Amino acid sequence: MAKKSVWSDNRFWQRTAAWITGFASILLIWLTFDTNAQIAMGNDSDLKNGVTKRVPGPTVINYKITYEMDKKRQHEVPVIGEKEKFFGRDDYSEEEATELLHLGKLGSQSKNCMNCHTLLGNGAYYAPDLTKAWLDPAWGPTGSMQAMTGKSTKEEAMAEFLQNPSQYPTHARMMPNLGITAEEAKGLVAFLKHMSSIDTNGFPRNFGKIQGAVNGK
Ligand code: HEC
Repeated sequence: MAKKSVWSDNRFWQRTAAWITGFASILLIWLTFDTNAQIAMGNDSDLKNGVTKRVPGPTVINYKITYEMDKKRQHEVPVIGEKEKFFGRDDYSEEEATELLHLGKLGSQSKNCMNCHTLLGNGAYYAPDLTKAWLDPAWGPTGSMQAMTGKSTKEEAMAEFLQNPSQYPTHARMMPNLGITAEEAKGLVAFLKHMSSIDTNGFPRNFGKIQGAVNGK
């Protein structure tokens, strides 16, 4: 009997397929766990001990958030800085901060911000991406929004805008009034502040360089 080449042997291909499928399954399971660990939300003690998490804990709202260019990664990364007052306080407990973010998240869903905006890149393209809206210089001390809303802090100016957006026409397109209450606005601003602290691998690109959505044309 002539010797059959291994390449035309069915058993060889069956075994190869089984090994590759098995290996790929194990790799996928490992990657799933690795991803979950990377994106798991941090907590208050991480923040207090300076442990860097891609998604910092809710109490990040007690801190100042800035961005710095990371030479190695070649994009900007969030930097959690000193304590900073948020609606007059910098001592929100984990429970209080979680509750506030939860309120903001529910608000963003019930008012469907994604119908016009993108959050972390998901949503519609009618209005600017909100991932880093908290860091838009327009809301800062040198921006126009504090003066326009008559408020002296970023969070109050943003909350005022969210409650009465059509009163502050700043752009070619106007955000309509969505019936957002003062409490909901506070939650939404906390939600936006927390989102800006997430390490999104530099997304959206160059947001720190452009005078953001409100003033940018
Ligand atoms: C019907 C469309 C629409 C919906 C829904 C909407 N927005 Fe807007 N939003 C806009 C438009 C348009 C602008 C730009 C307004 C301007 O520049 O004056 C804007 C601007 C903003 C800004 C300023 C952006 C920046 O980078 O400084 C924030 C913050 C914001 N919206 C938050 C929200 C939140 C939170 C929700 C959901 C609760 C929401 N918007 C729902 C249309 C919408």
